[in-house]
Amino acid sequence: MENKVITIPKPNDYHIHLRDNELLGFTVPVCCKNYRKATVMPNLEKPVDNMSDLIEYRNRILNNVPLGMNFEPLMTLYITKNLTINTLIDAKNSGLVVGCKLYPANATTNSSYGISDINQINDILKTMEDLGLILLIHGEQLNDENDEYGEIDIIDREKEFIINTMPKLITKYPNLKIVLEHISSEFAVKYIENSSDNIAATITPHHLYYTINDIFTKTGKYLNCCPVIKGRNDRKALIRIATSGFPRVFIGTDSAPHTIQQKQENNNAGIFNTPESLLIYLEIFDKYDSIDNGNFEKFISTNGAKFYGLPINDEKLSFIKTNYQSPNQYNYNNFIIPSMLGDNTISWNYNNNNNNNNNNNNNNNE
Ligand code: DOR
Ligand code: ZN
Repeated sequence: MENKVITIPKPNDYHIHLRDNELLGFTVPVCCKNYRKATVMPNLEKPVDNMSDLIEYRNRILNNVPLGMNFEPLMTLYITKNLTINTLIDAKNSGLVVGCKLYPANATTNSSYGISDINQINDILKTMEDLGLILLIHGEQLNDENDEYGEIDIIDREKEFIINTMPKLITKYPNLKIVLEHISSEFAVKYIENSSDNIAATITPHHLYYTINDIFTKTGKYLNCCPVIKGRNDRKALIRIATSGFPRVFIGTDSAPHTIQQKQENNNAGIFNTPESLLIYLEIFDKYDSIDNGNFEKFISTNGAKFYGLPINDEKLSFIKTNYQSPNQYNYNNFIIPSMLGDNTISWNYNNNNNNNNNNNNNNNE
């Protein structure tokens, strides 16, 4: 029997960390091979919270797009206390910015400039609602001020954010378009299923592929991320909604490179998955019989475009059911970045007929 082949409209990644400067020489080409557009996160060391920094960052990204490839970065602004209403208006008028990212202060990598109380940004949120800019949320609450022990357990942070902050947002800004990014729990899945049409969620490959048990294995030493990978019932719920054809969940890889050194020294939160991201989603959707019914294509290529108001891409990507052995790590200049899969083999690969397959000369096996 011939190996199964699937061809889909080239997707967009609705959540990626491309980082900056030298590393863009690695992250941008890999992203372009897999994605036509990508929602670029603004959590650089100096947060992207004004239009001149945003335009310069966008240019640095575009300078790294390989010749002959079409790629559009969908830029986002970081909601810091310095973000202004005028910046939002300029952002909307520029046509370059899809939305703004809300990081609760200190919730994750480079989030110290985030917001600890959404009441501090009422004018920003109202303007975003009026302009139709999307609010992209890192939905984790760190502290409970009514509890003497304060810090909320890492596995409960998403749930607490949804319980304590989402109702306030929805009541005050009923028309604000919101994406709860990288949902990771059964609680979040149920919340999205019961929410209104202006609320959507992204789901990462790592939250669909791993559970908390994997964190304690050899590969797991590099799997720290925010929100943390949770239990089997959480994973099951994520797989259920992703593979169901539900229209308001879609791809967002949260691919976030950190070097092995950063991981070993500080256990930095973030998983780099861009090279294998689509293969991993395929692996999951195939296992749950959700390719032939069209649900893979919905989750990967169409749901996000509809929510963002973007056209479906004309270019195509093609995959074949044959083994793919992931490298343990990616080497680029002096950067050594652990892969998401480590030693794991998966059963989907890029089809050689792709004009732009994923072979990358810089990818070295350990
Ligand atoms: O795991 C994560 N890494 N989660 C985030 O929200 C940020 C990201 C990063 O920038 O490394
Ligand atoms: Zn992220």
